[in-house]
Amino acid sequence: MLIFLTQPIKTYIVDLSHLKVLVTGGGGIGVGAGVCQALDEFGATLLINEKELTKAEKAAHRYRKAFPIQADITKASEIEKMFEEIESRFGAINGLVNNAGVGLVKAVHEIEEEEFEALYSVNVKGMWRVSKFFVRQLLKHKIKGNIVNVSSVHGFASQPNYSTYASSKSAVEGLTRALAYELGAHGIRVNAIGPGMVHAEQNYDLIKEWAPDPQKWVEEFIENQQTLHHYIEPVDCGYTAAFLLSNYSRSITGQTIYVDAGKTIMLFNQDYINQK
Ligand SMILES: NC(=O)c1ccc[n+]([C@@H]2O[C@H](COP(=O)([O-])OP(=O)(O)OC[C@H]3O[C@@H](n4cnc5c(N)ncnc54)[C@H](O)[C@@H]3O)[C@@H](O)[C@H]2O)c1
Repeated sequence: MLIFLTQPIKTYIVDLSHLKVLVTGGGGIGVGAGVCQALDEFGATLLINEKELTKAEKAAHRYRKAFPIQADITKASEIEKMFEEIESRFGAINGLVNNAGVGLVKAVHEIEEEEFEALYSVNVKGMWRVSKFFVRQLLKHKIKGNIVNVSSVHGFASQPNYSTYASSKSAVEGLTRALAYELGAHGIRVNAIGPGMVHAEQNYDLIKEWAPDPQKWVEEFIENQQTLHHYIEPVDCGYTAAFLLSNYSRSITGQTIYVDAGKTIMLFNQDYINQK
């Protein structure tokens, strides 16, 4: 029998073509974009969540099999609606990357109740809310699944004025371990990635708050505060998430992998040692 192929068969180094993955905050330009880029490269179907539909739509155009989906993850009703829409349009999904997150740089004694709650509502409660509905649909359909949470090096060690953000990321890592234990029996794995300083133009505005020349500050950071002297690109985080979503990591659960070019393993920074 003759079979005519209209398209060349695509083979992937890491084959994720069996995965339908929801990426929260996947329309951003930082880690979320890197995750989508890597998953797209390995053939996954992407459901790109954003608070604003237009942002998700714009991002979805960049990838081959990507669909925008709106929900503010601080609102339980919107998440519930998002999962109903996902189920009716795409059936059960088997991957989740909890990427959406917000920051706050402020001295502890100046932080207002509302600011603390707003940050935790996205970084911790938002992650819990989305995971809850994702797990519900996995259990309902009796399928295995995989969650990758986006933490930060701040989950491990921090700096002044980051207490709210840092504690939220430590909570992410605790949630990761506890969910991994609870859900292992159902064949659901839960891991996290902890990015260091990821290279993105958006960081320069923040860095301007303490350094007049943000580009120079970043170059010196890479030289002195990382053991590997290169920029961490968003896709570096994406490739780690892809590995954790793949079968190559089938025996790994409850772990956080720091994508930090060696930042968290340094006892002394390079510039401190060079002064001696
Ligand atoms: N960029 C870094 O250097 C860095 C370093 C360490 C950790 N992280 C973590 O990576 C994740 C992504 O951050 P990023 O800075 O790379 O940004 P990103 O470019 O991936 O964008 C995050 C997206 O989340 C979306 N979002 C925010 N609140 C939302 C909500 N309530 N509902 C739905 N979507 C929402 C935003 O619209 C934005 O597009 C965060 O969890 C962050 O803490 C980033």
